[in-house]
Order: sequence, then C-alpha cells, then structure tokens
Amino acid sequence: MVGRWDSPYDAVPMVRLRPRLTRLAALVGVTVLLASCSLIEIQDAPLTTFEPAGPNAERIDGLFWLVFWIAAAVFVLVMGAIIVMVFVFRDRGKDGAEEPKQLHGNAKLEVIWTVIPALILAAISVPTVSAVFELTGCDSDSMVVEVVGHQWWFEYNYPEQGIDTANVMVIPAGQEVCAVMTSADVLHNFWIPALHGKRYMVPGQITELRLESYEPGEFWGQCAEFCGLSHSLMRARVLALEPSDFETWVAEQQEPAALPSEGTPEYDGYQVFASKGCAQCHTVRFDDDSASNIVPREAFNGPDLTHFASRTVFAGASLPQEGQTFDAALREWLADPPNVKPGSFMPNLGLTSQEIDDLIVWLRSNK
Ligand code: CUA
Repeated sequence: MVGRWDSPYDAVPMVRLRPRLTRLAALVGVTVLLASCSLIEIQDAPLTTFEPAGPNAERIDGLFWLVFWIAAAVFVLVMGAIIVMVFVFRDRGKDGAEEPKQLHGNAKLEVIWTVIPALILAAISVPTVSAVFELTGCDSDSMVVEVVGHQWWFEYNYPEQGIDTANVMVIPAGQEVCAVMTSADVLHNFWIPALHGKRYMVPGQITELRLESYEPGEFWGQCAEFCGLSHSLMRARVLALEPSDFETWVAEQQEPAALPSEGTPEYDGYQVFASKGCAQCHTVRFDDDSASNIVPREAFNGPDLTHFASRTVFAGASLPQEGQTFDAALREWLADPPNVKPGSFMPNLGLTSQEIDDLIVWLRSNK
C-alpha cells in the first residue's frame, strides 16, 4: 500500500512549496529589516528613544548603544565560530572515521566560558549602575514642576510661579527641571522619550524625574503604565522654550482670565460653563475674584481652564488628531467626551449644538 506522503500527487506540491517558502522567508526578512531601519527616522515616530534631545536621554541612549555593540560583537564571534566548526569539522562520510575526542567535563574550558561572560557583564555594569544613580532624583537647585497623573491626563503645577496647567508641560531649554511626581488615582508612568526614561507616578508617594532639553522644541510623551480604559490616550507634550520666552509664558499664565462682559458671544459661552455642570470640576481664575471658579485641590477636578487656549492640545494631549482643526476636535470632544476617550470622567452633558458653539468661543478667548 502506498503511504500518504509517498503519493506522487502529494509530492508535487511539496517540492514546489519549498522554494516558495524560502522566497517568502527572504521577503519577510527584508521587510523586517527595512521596518526596523525606518523606526530610526523620527518623522513618524515621535516616541522614538533614538533621538535624545537632552543630557539625561543621551546618557540612556549611550548606554543602549554600548550594550548593543558588545552584544553584536559576541553574536558575530559565537555565530562565526559555529559556522566555521560546521563546515571545517563536518562529517565527510569517510569510511572508518573515528568519533571526535569528547570534551565533556573539561575544567579549563568550563572556567574560560564562565569567566569571559562574567567579565563582560561586570564591565557593562560599571557605566549602567553609575548611570542609574546619576539619573535618579534631581539637583537641589533645579526648577520644580509638580506633575500629577490623573485618569487620563497629566496636570502640571509650578509652585514657585503659582501656575496650574495641564497636558502641555512648558520648560526653559538648557536648564534642568525637576518633575516632582505623584498620582491622584492609580499608578501612572511619566515618559518623555527624548528627555529621559520612564518613571512611575504612585498614589501617596513622591517620585522625581529630571528633565532637560538642549534646544527649544516640542517633545511627545505617553503614560507608560496601563491605567485603565483610556491609558493609550493619556499622552503628554513638553514644550521647551528659550529662557526669555519661558519668562514671557510664565507672566502670561500668571494673569487671570478676563470675565466676559454681558451681551458678547464669550459671555454666552461662559454662561454655559457656569450653568451646565462644567464648573463643578474645572477651575477658572477671573480678573473679577468674586466670579472666579476655584475647585478645591482635594475635590475631584479636571484641568484648570484659565489659559485653555494657550495649549496646543487637550483631552489628555490626544486631541486634535493629525489633520483635524482645533475647533473641530473641540466640538467632537464637548459633544460626547466618553466617545472620544472611553471611560472619561468628563460626562456627556447633552449640550446642544448652539451651547457647544458658545463654549468654543469662550474657551478660545481664554488664551
Ligand atoms: Cu496613565 Cu496609563
């Protein structure tokens, strides 16, 4: 009886399959290689760790490449040796060839291949451990920005300047800034790849992360700890400004918002804010103290909206999306927040289209 794999009808496709598999494997290999090369291009990868923009991230990047090249050298040596052995000492099919000498239990060899990796690891640990210690904590004289993680956005407070803001952290370029971090609810993790590694934000604890950018620029970040439904939409921006521009920004942020006068479109928007529930969670400091809306720190609160329009992004720095205008994104957000950010604690207030238009006009005036 002819077995299944002996059948001439089965044998034909098997023979054809092999070169096809080889070609497929080559194609997959080339694709993976090209994809990994393109990762190094920053345009489409704002969270790349390969474009450090400050001394802390540069230190980490330097360590990565040191370890990478040592590992690459080990790989080439070991693989090269294996390939040489396979070809030089292969079984040539000679009759009566003896079995090679067996090396099992050779103490000298075993000591050598234990000591060499141990020495390599010891050498790598010197710069690694010193970097870990150097990158932990801040210099005592650096400017403090308190960073508070919320589901799902980052709050930034500047205690020395008396500023509360959200989603965009503004820092002076060329100076060390100390992010003094905690969380208002669950574990989060603050990560600005161009400026430093990841660091946990722990409820009830303080952790520190030193950030510094060599040049002015905008850097993307992301919460790096799974923290609930909209974890992936908990994003961060750091905007580094020339020190003089930073001073201007501070002065502008310290100013209160103007209370709109009756009869203006801004006033209608402010009325929506004051009457539809927004004011229960959002603080706005007005030039008229009696009208100011201050939500206590201990209370559940959303971002301070005093200078909302000075920020380029909102909704956990996830809006506006690429190709979307600020107003279109704001309209989508105000119409149904949990639809944009699943689980959002900003509820759908059932605002009418007119109320949303008014709110946008007022929010846009809070520069
Ligand atoms: Cu916060 Cu993930």
